[in-house]
Amino acid sequence: MKNIVVLVSGGGTNLQALIDAQESGIIKNGRITCVISSKPGVYALERAEKHNISTRVIARKEYPDVIEYSKAILEALTEEKADLVVYAGFMTILDELVVKAMPNKMMNVHPALIPSFCGKGYYGLRVHEEALKKGVKLTGATVHFVTEVCDGGPIILQKAVEVMDGDTPETLQRRVMEQAEWQILPKAVSLFCDDKLEVSGNTVRILK
Ligand code: GAR
Repeated sequence: MKNIVVLVSGGGTNLQALIDAQESGIIKNGRITCVISSKPGVYALERAEKHNISTRVIARKEYPDVIEYSKAILEALTEEKADLVVYAGFMTILDELVVKAMPNKMMNVHPALIPSFCGKGYYGLRVHEEALKKGVKLTGATVHFVTEVCDGGPIILQKAVEVMDGDTPETLQRRVMEQAEWQILPKAVSLFCDDKLEVSGNTVRILK
């Protein structure tokens, strides 16, 4: 059974999708053992508490710089004996010291089809605003392993979602979450926990 630690910063709908997948048996070989938030008071913490999942707040603003913050996160991940770390709406970029300690053991969900609308500065609603500005007809979501390159790690799963006439960033965000993120994130976590992901260079092969 793998220990899954989920990193959050906000509402936690992706965390909820993981909790639901765990409870319905979609994730069989892992369990969420801890939720760590970069901000106090966010709704994601309440979601975890409702399901008796232990929580920690490691507030970004209490650390002088990204290195000290990253060290604190790594220490917590070590204490929690994390086998898999999931960024689920985690809005803080960590220093590479964390990812180097856990290569191919950290995954992120991004609300676009990487390599579109990704990288530094592309997070949350901003991603959907840029997609609408560009006038794309298809967008979607990506789950990828985290590397030292922001949104640049090996892609595990992607799902496309149609942009509709009259979409606002909010309506598009909701559709991308419902039709893509909440489906592919639990699926990727389940594949990881079943040892079905093989990484070779920048390519992830899904084993049968
Ligand atoms: C999600 O859309 C997630 O993909 C995005 O923030 C939202 C968090 O929602 N993450 C990023 O933009 C990271 N670059 P949630 O807190 O309800 O899961």
